[in-house]
Parts: sequence; structure tokens; C-alpha cells
Amino acid sequence: MRRGSIVRMVAIGVVVAVLVTLVATLIQWLPTSASEEMDRITFVYWFATVICIAIFALVAAVIVYSVQTFRVQPDDDSDGPPIHGHTGLEIVWTVIPAMLVIAIGIVSAIVLARNGEAGTNPLKVKVFAQQFAWRFEYPDQDNLRSGQLYLPLGRKVRLELEAADVLHSFWVPDFGQKQDLVPGITTKLVITPKRIGTYRLICTELCGLGHATMRSTVHVLTPGEWDTWVQEQQSGTGEGGGAQGAGLFASQGCGGCHAFAPAGTDAQVGPALDNLAEVAKNAGEDPAAYVKESIVEPNKVVASGYQAGVMPQNYGQTLSEEQIDALVKYLTESKE
Ligand code: CUA
Repeated sequence: MRRGSIVRMVAIGVVVAVLVTLVATLIQWLPTSASEEMDRITFVYWFATVICIAIFALVAAVIVYSVQTFRVQPDDDSDGPPIHGHTGLEIVWTVIPAMLVIAIGIVSAIVLARNGEAGTNPLKVKVFAQQFAWRFEYPDQDNLRSGQLYLPLGRKVRLELEAADVLHSFWVPDFGQKQDLVPGITTKLVITPKRIGTYRLICTELCGLGHATMRSTVHVLTPGEWDTWVQEQQSGTGEGGGAQGAGLFASQGCGGCHAFAPAGTDAQVGPALDNLAEVAKNAGEDPAAYVKESIVEPNKVVASGYQAGVMPQNYGQTLSEEQIDALVKYLTESKE
């Protein structure tokens, strides 16, 4: 091969590599990492991407050069010269890709193993999913319950995930990992938050009519703030503590779907709960009985403009009579 040809092929390869590198780096394809696990995953991502860019540039250079150089003339109907393969070339294009794929496999396996290590003293959090709500429990914090996930910065968190009904999937894009929740088995996920902030938790497995509404929020706090949050919840002064209505409203995740001014929530998945007493009176019902029925049998009367089957149907079983009464009292009597 002439020297000029090689220079031209290399030039084409460099141009293609630069263009593809710009596409890879100038566009932010992934969220900014908020966990140590995502940092490792991002490393694998770039490790594979750099290899892909090099291979793509090489292939593109050979193709573009060949199309330009070996293009037949319009009046040339002759066959091309017979080619019987090239053993040296075949060995090269088999061995090098094999080594690259093995390298990606080794790096991925190391990252996967390290991302699964929860260490000796992780914070344990149980994650419960059901159509269409998330709930969290902290077994080492007196089984503290919450409708949103609160995590301290920098400590390994070991999530144990359970689904009550169908497949769901836990996904916080900023943490970079997904984990399915499967009825009948407990799945696990390790997260080490490294950035203070508030993040979206999304169910990423089609689980029914309300799938798109099955969301919650993750709060990463400093360890001190997190301790304070735990103490507030345990003493019942916080929004998620105790058997009081306000605490139940928060810990059961009601605010994830309903607007309710006294609780400061403004979600619009389900009907707003601000004028329940009035609504009941207009319908000629006793407010307390009306609200209780809506909690225990949400499909019996569905507010117009909303669909049946979106609200969890099992609060009658998961909440005690006393808790339901507290919630009803809170919903019918609270003023902003
Ligand atoms: Cu739960 Cu989709």
C-alpha cells in the first residue's frame, strides 16, 4: 500500500473519531452521578465507549477510503480479482476484538462485585412496592416508616426490596442503578449517596394502570440532618411519626398522589383532599363515614375525572382501625 493511501485513511479515521467523541462528550447523556456506585458504572461506560469510538473510527476509515478508491468506472462490467482471504488479517481482527470484549467483561465484573458490597455496617432500609405506591421502613430505627426515602450522605445503604402484588422496579436515575421488585422474593441493592439533594424515584416496570404515577422522592441529607430527621419521626414531632393522622398521611405516602393543604402537598394523581367535609355534605353523607369508605374501599365511589384501581386497595388490611380513624380525623378536621 502506498504511503499516501495510509495517510489518507488515518486522516479519515481521525476526523471520524473527533466527530464521534464530540457527540459523546458535548451532549450530557447521563444524569450527574449522586452515588459512588454510579461513578463506577460511569467508568465502565467510558471504558467501553472509548473502545467503541476507536473501532468505529477504524471501520469508518477503511469503508470511506475503499468506497472512494475502489469505486468501479461506469463502463466497467468486469468481475473483480478473486480473493482467497488473508490469514494474518483474520487473526488480527479476531484476537484484538476478543481481547477488548474480555477486558470489558473483566472491568464490568469487578464493578458489579464492588457495587454489591454493603460493607460491615450498612444502613438497612426495607422498600415495599405495591400498586401504585412506595413505602420505606428502617428496621434499625425502631421500624420507622416513611413514604419518602431519606438517606444520610456517604454511608452505604442496603435496600431490601419487596413487592406486594406484581413486578415493580426501583430506579433513581441519579444513583445509576435499577433493581426489580419481585413478588415472593426479596431483592437487594446497595447505594452510597455522595451528593446532598432531592432526587426522583421512579417505578420503571409497567405494573398497571397507575404505573406512570408510581413515584416517590429520595432525600440525601448530611448525617447530622438525617439523625435529626430520625429523632423527629420517632418522637412523633415530624411529619412521618406516630400514629397521628398527619404522621400516617406522610408515612403512607398519601401526599405522593393527593393535594392536601394542611400537609403541604400538591400532587394531582388523585383528587385533592382539601374540601372533603364539604364534598361529603353535598353528597348527603356523613363526612367521617365517607372518608373512611374512600380509604378502605377506594373503588366504591371514584371521583369524576379519576380512574378506579389506581389507589391501593388494601389500606383496610395494612392499617389498624385506630390508624384509619386518626387519618379520617386528620382529613376531615385539619385546617391549613
Ligand atoms: Cu410499579 Cu410501575
